[in-house]
Amino acid sequence: MADPLRLNLDLDPAPYRALHRPTGARFVEVLDQRALPHAQIMVKLADADTAALAIGSMWVRGAPLIGAVGAYGLAMALDLDPSDAALASAHAALDATRPTAVNLRWALDRVRRAVASLPASERADAAWREADAIVVEDIEINHSIGQHGLQLLREIPRRRSGPINVMTHCNAGALATCGWGTATAPLFLAHADGLPIHVFVSETRPRLQGANLTVWEMNQRGVPHTLFVDSASGLLMRRGDIDVVIVGTDRVACNGDVCNKIGTYDKALAARDNDVPFYVALPSPTIDWSLASGDGIPIESRSADEVLTAVGRDENGNTGKVAIAPAGTRAVNYAFDVTPARLVSGLITERGVARDAQSLSALFARAA
Ligand code: MRU
Repeated sequence: MADPLRLNLDLDPAPYRALHRPTGARFVEVLDQRALPHAQIMVKLADADTAALAIGSMWVRGAPLIGAVGAYGLAMALDLDPSDAALASAHAALDATRPTAVNLRWALDRVRRAVASLPASERADAAWREADAIVVEDIEINHSIGQHGLQLLREIPRRRSGPINVMTHCNAGALATCGWGTATAPLFLAHADGLPIHVFVSETRPRLQGANLTVWEMNQRGVPHTLFVDSASGLLMRRGDIDVVIVGTDRVACNGDVCNKIGTYDKALAARDNDVPFYVALPSPTIDWSLASGDGIPIESRSADEVLTAVGRDENGNTGKVAIAPAGTRAVNYAFDVTPARLVSGLITERGVARDAQSLSALFARAA
């Protein structure tokens, strides 16, 4: 049987892993992303309820990663009870954890399909194998995205002499996937290949995935980078400081509308106004072929507490949460937004770059 950890290490030589299954284990270990960048804590997920908690409470996050953890969660449920009823109930519980990224449903459906017609005694092993396959494929897909994105980077006209300046948002890195990341794969490959790049990372309030996670990944891989506050993206583009924007996505509709972390739409608008190319990197499981447009994508609404507080480490090394607004302040916390296809220069997939909905369909041999 394929050992995802071994293949993971072979396929993405990063010194960290968001997820791995030790050989033959009936559990997985995940990096608790709530603790980054201050501490690296691996947490064991040994049952479906804990896997669901890890996804819902964002110990793990990022569209492809929650799909993979969900798939393993289903395998853990079948270890305990391989009946149809247990399969349906674990599928529903895991699927209910986060609504926006379609990869979660995709992975759960894939595991369910792989086991549904098998005798009960064979179901759990088959589910573990399918989850392993999802992990390995994700790393391979991201590597291909990286190669297509690297080609794009080589051709991007530079506004200034010096490195190619790339803006990214949130974390669409190896921490959001099983390896390489999507938006970050071209950046990591470019850096490894000696193509000079500099990554501008938006902090990504309220949960600070950019400041906490993407910056950490850039440090781990030695990629030059600069952190900026979310509201500075327009200015940076207007100053000519940015050559290209590359972001990830949680769900792409058939017409090429892109759902991603809140604030992505603002960056796409600023990019269009300043003639900065705006690319989205995505693995094919992120495409929702059932949705005609982005209007049908469910937008996760999270606790107001995330907006009203900030979590960080003080000068004494103590990590904690502080209030940043008067008690009782009303706050909205939509976690994602939709960028219309007309603002997207191209979709970087594992099969190449799609410039519009027709070419996206053609790449994956679907009727537009
Ligand atoms: O709320 P999160 O941290 O799960 O949001 C993650 C993102 O928005 C990523 O850009 C997206 O999932 C793509 S990950 C390759």
